[in-house]
Amino acid sequence: MKKSLLLLVIPALIGFSNAAAAQTQQKKPVDKCFSCHTDIGDDKVADYTSDVHYKAGVTCADCHGGDPTVEDQDAAMDPKKGYIGIPKPSAIPQVCGKCHGAGKTAFKTNFHLNDVMDQFMSSVHGRALNERSDGPTCISCHGIHNIVEVQNSKSPVYPTNVTKTCAKCHSNPDYMKKFSPGLPVDQYEKYLTSVHGERNKAGDPKPATCVSCHSNHLIRPVKDPRSPVYPTNIPQTCAKCHSNKEYMAGYHIPTDQYANYKESVHGIALLQNSDLSAPACNSCHGNHGAVPPGVSSVASVCGTCHQANADLFDKSVHKEAFARAKLPGCVVCHSNHLVRPPNDAMIGFGTDAVCGKCHKDVPADSAAGAILAIRSTLDSLTNGRKDAETLLSHAEQLGMDVSDASYSLRDVNQSLVEARVQVHLFTAGPVKSAAEPGLKIVAEAQKSALAAVNEYYFRRHGLGVATLIITLLAVLLFLKIRQIERKSRQ
Ligand code: HEC
Ligand code: HEC
Ligand code: HEC
Ligand code: HEC
Ligand code: HEC
Ligand code: HEC
Ligand code: HEC
Ligand code: HEC
Ligand code: HEC
Ligand code: HEC
Ligand code: HEC
Repeated sequence: MKKSLLLLVIPALIGFSNAAAAQTQQKKPVDKCFSCHTDIGDDKVADYTSDVHYKAGVTCADCHGGDPTVEDQDAAMDPKKGYIGIPKPSAIPQVCGKCHGAGKTAFKTNFHLNDVMDQFMSSVHGRALNERSDGPTCISCHGIHNIVEVQNSKSPVYPTNVTKTCAKCHSNPDYMKKFSPGLPVDQYEKYLTSVHGERNKAGDPKPATCVSCHSNHLIRPVKDPRSPVYPTNIPQTCAKCHSNKEYMAGYHIPTDQYANYKESVHGIALLQNSDLSAPACNSCHGNHGAVPPGVSSVASVCGTCHQANADLFDKSVHKEAFARAKLPGCVVCHSNHLVRPPNDAMIGFGTDAVCGKCHKDVPADSAAGAILAIRSTLDSLTNGRKDAETLLSHAEQLGMDVSDASYSLRDVNQSLVEARVQVHLFTAGPVKSAAEPGLKIVAEAQKSALAAVNEYYFRRHGLGVATLIITLLAVLLFLKIRQIERKSRQ
């Protein structure tokens, strides 16, 4: 017992400055609190000899007050000498804050550890302590009389222990109910199912713990925009580790998630446009558990927000085919972190096309026909609209009133949007059906434009010239459509 004690004390003394070591040695003989409490067999004293404070020369009286130089119990533990007895819970942060607080009197060796107390008092825990005397205090996380360095693997706040320390309260429904009846109490349980939790439980201190995501002293409510887990801050919080090549070395996973995410439609929407409906890392990966509840795998999480696409995909030939090949659904065509704005060029066999990654433009590939037909439908719609616009503006320049037809073109967009969603059935029919109303509007608009132009020339030059010009325009339009169709085959 003695020997192991010495083993603990000696390295600490070597590590500490000579001045402090000398102080410790001089101090102990005159510390009557310590000696009398040793004599009465107080187990707190036995604990205290392994405490980081004992090693640093902090005495009983430094926390409890009183006069450590007198033998007599009453004189030593005299409130007039500053003795406070057992500090009330609400007073504990101040007791510790004498040394661990900003701008407070530094400890003897001019030691003080930043503004821990002040951070704690502004945290959600500090607030809870103000509300109720059984709220969290410093000792809920660090212990009493047996406090060790936070880097010591025996510390209750060491990464592999801290999750249990938080769970003492956060997995205790009866306790948490007193403060916040609606707050879930399943974080620890879920955490254990995540990769972070599994590795943490196996003794790896590097994966995220409660503290890596929520901070330690200045924990804020998760809905507070300053919280590290507020949606707009989450990507940075995860990136602390996941973009740190050195830290992640040895895990054999990429460290590009944040860099890619930042450039994605989702990252731009959330980080640049503060669109809170766009996913942050945790929307797809879950807060505590491996994946959010109700989602069987990360790959199918997209459907929680893009339900229409997911429903169609689930009915498509790819659903089964991808599952067989263990391909992750949406992510195959859209990527997971670098989701770009989609466009029609993704359909077909060109360089930007995703279909061409697996299908070939050969008759033997039974998908080729559908792929070309889908693309052709979308092209007819977008190009048809463009041509109609050109014709209409020509008519307008000639002074003809075509405002009704121009106005009707607005509705083409709706068809286009629906057709692009229908792409996810990966057959030509539904895309065509969705495009049909738009194609009709386009055809009508083109007809109106031609009629207007016709009327203009008829009024000015008579029937012959008008017919000639209209025929010319119609032929040009026909050639253009042929050309587009040929292009989409490429
Ligand atoms: C001569 C012996 C003696 C000395 C000196 C002494 N104590 Fe105590 N202390 C006791 C005994 C005995 C008890 C438990 C009985 C009691 O509460 O009166 C006690 C109880 C305590 C308690 C618990 C109080 C409570 O309300 O339960 C604290 C805290 C404490 N002492 C701190 C100190 C500090 C700090 C010093 C030095 C400034 C000190 N003691 C000096 C004998 C002593
Ligand atoms: C770093 C500050 C600190 C130091 C140093 C310290 N204590 Fe304490 N002690 C506390 C706090 C805080 C509590 C209140 C714990 C609680 O609320 O349960 C406490 C509680 C106690 C109690 C009552 C415990 C109980 O369970 O009834 C005794 C007795 C006590 N301390 C004695 C001592 C003695 C003797 C020493 C020196 C050997 C000492 N303490 C050193 C902070 C300290
Ligand atoms: C909710 C739990 C919790 C509470 C409450 C808490 N701490 Fe900590 N504390 C931690 C954790 C976790 C660490 C280790 C941080 C790390 O690993 O980076 C830590 C670290 C420390 C350190 C080492 C220096 C540092 O800043 O990292 C000191 C000193 C400290 N705490 C003092 C206090 C004091 C004083 C209080 C009360 C005012 C307090 N703590 C309240 C969890 C807590
Ligand atoms: C009288 C000054 C003083 C008081 C009061 C005090 N501490 Fe400390 N604390 C120190 C000193 C000195 C160290 C040792 C720093 C070192 O070794 O680097 C220390 C170290 C710590 C550490 C380990 C820090 C690390 O870097 O690993 C924790 C945790 C801690 N204290 C928590 C507390 C808590 C909790 C309380 C209140 C119950 C408290 N302290 C009260 C002076 C104090
Ligand atoms: C990988 C990061 C991460 C880890 C690890 C983590 N959390 Fe969370 N935590 C979050 C996110 C993100 C939220 C939700 C924020 C939101 O709802 O907007 C959250 C929410 C919470 C909440 C609010 C209630 C709730 O469940 O929504 C509590 C309490 C909480 N976490 C405690 C813990 C505890 C205790 C641990 C450790 C067992 C832990 N967290 C581990 C990221 C994390
Ligand atoms: C002594 C009990 C206790 C311990 C230990 C504890 N907490 Fe808490 N925690 C609470 C209480 C009480 C609240 C306040 C609930 C409220 O009033 O909303 C709270 C609130 C929180 C919240 C804010 C939830 C919200 O409202 O959005 C987070 C996050 C949190 N704690 C994380 C942690 C982490 C991380 C740890 C471990 C380092 C930890 N807690 C340790 C009791 C505790
Ligand atoms: C404290 C550092 C740290 C933080 C913060 C952190 N992680 Fe991790 N994460 C790790 C480590 C280490 C692993 C283990 C890697 C492994 O085993 O493959 C890991 C594993 C993962 C995995 C599993 C990777 C795999 O193996 O397939 C995912 C997903 C993940 N983290 C997502 C997140 C998200 C999302 C956040 C933010 C909400 C986050 N992490 C925050 C360190 C961290
Ligand atoms: C839109 C959903 C989504 C978002 C947002 C997202 N991820 Fe992912 N993430 C995925 C999917 C899907 C996978 C692949 C999972 C699989 O293959 O099982 C993945 C894989 C990972 C992996 C495993 C290693 C790898 O790269 O394959 C890590 C680590 C990871 N993500 C971290 C993050 C971090 C950090 C963020 C935020 C910066 C983030 N993710 C944002 C969906 C997302
Ligand atoms: C939390 C909800 C959410 C999740 C989960 C989600 N998204 Fe999104 N997604 C959005 C929002 C919101 C936008 C619109 C962003 C913007 O303003 O452009 C968007 C945009 C997109 C776009 C661009 C749409 C367009 O018309 O430009 C694609 C493609 C996309 N997401 C694919 C995915 C994929 C693939 C996944 C899964 C890996 C996924 N999303 C997961 C919410 C989500
Ligand atoms: C086989 C490839 C492929 C798969 C798998 C796929 N998509 Fe798409 N997705 C596309 C193509 C191609 C477009 C572009 C349509 C266009 O703009 O012409 C697109 C467009 C989108 C858009 C923007 C258009 C819109 O609907 O608003 C979203 C959002 C989207 N996909 C989400 C998803 C989701 C969610 C999944 C999984 C359920 C998924 N996609 C699976 C190929 C795919
Ligand atoms: C990751 C590979 C992959 C990508 C990318 C891909 N497909 Fe497929 N596709 C398949 C597989 C595998 C099958 C099933 C073939 C089978 O069962 O014979 C299939 C089947 C089809 C079929 C049904 C063919 C039949 O026999 O009736 C169509 C149509 C189709 N895909 C269209 C598309 C379109 C459109 C795209 C681009 C938007 C696309 N595919 C992208 C792998 C892919």
